[in-house]
Amino acid sequence: MAHTVKKAVVPAAGLGTRFLPATKALPKEMLPVVDTPAIQYVVEEAVRAGISDFLMITGRNKNALENHFDRNYELERTLEAKQDEARLEKVTHSTDLANIHYVRQGDPRGLGHAVLKAVHHVGHEPFALLLGDDIIHPKENLLERMLEVFEKTNSSVVALMEVPQELVSAYGVAVVESTDTTDVVRITGMVEKPEADKAPSNLAVIGRYILRPEVFGILEKTAPGRGGEIQLTDALSVLAENPDLGGGVVGLIFRGRRFDTGDRLEYLKSVVELAVERDDLGPGLLAWLHDFVAAQK
Ligand code: UTP
Repeated sequence: MAHTVKKAVVPAAGLGTRFLPATKALPKEMLPVVDTPAIQYVVEEAVRAGISDFLMITGRNKNALENHFDRNYELERTLEAKQDEARLEKVTHSTDLANIHYVRQGDPRGLGHAVLKAVHHVGHEPFALLLGDDIIHPKENLLERMLEVFEKTNSSVVALMEVPQELVSAYGVAVVESTDTTDVVRITGMVEKPEADKAPSNLAVIGRYILRPEVFGILEKTAPGRGGEIQLTDALSVLAENPDLGGGVVGLIFRGRRFDTGDRLEYLKSVVELAVERDDLGPGLLAWLHDFVAAQK
């Protein structure tokens, strides 16, 4: 199916303070999940969904990120000379994946502020927004499904996940109404990081969005909110509460596998789970894990 969404925006300018000291000189989006930076999984996911134009919002330490998606002639020549085709492919793959553009955020004043930096690149088109530290398991087709919902509804689409009540305070949480379609809800409001007993639902916003360009005008008027940051959730809440401004917001409830690699425990789980599934590493790691877990008792 041909989509009207051609561009993706990938914010990668956060400070990553939960992952210090690793993120002192490296964006958290560059942390390796097995042997591949988290952000490469994110770009590959969007490419599978038919998107080939990316804008990354970078902060300080952006060099590692840009270099990863750029050519590395020295490495390429060396591997060519050794006729090591398999490793050569690993080096060139990230360069050949897509057209990647970069813009600096300047001060990291929140996710909403980062998204606003994309206004000139995106223009008046709908776009996908994928958080660079949020990995959806490569076997899932969440983004494709979100694009289909967008084409049907012409509303901005947000991915939601059911989370246990004690965890809602870590997320933006949606106020929802059901629709005729399974796992698709209409969002009527949103709250950023509510206290567990005040949360309007257990449906948390995760790092995948299809947004209509009207969000930029709303972000421009959004004052700093929770934590003194310009919150994307606040702008989406305005879109959700005022459907006449930009077609409203719908949520697609995702029930598959997702890892927030900016969180250390989730990061460790992502490395183990994705490594166990691999032919080259899985059998050895799994055998060791069995012994290791048994030895803990
Ligand atoms: P997070 O809230 O997870 O990022 O932002 P953070 O602030 O770097 O994390 P901690 O709490 O200090 O560890 C979600 C996404 O938004 C980006 C981040 O890079 C991440 O991909 N982001 C956040 C920006 O690009 N700019 C910002 O100002 C804030």
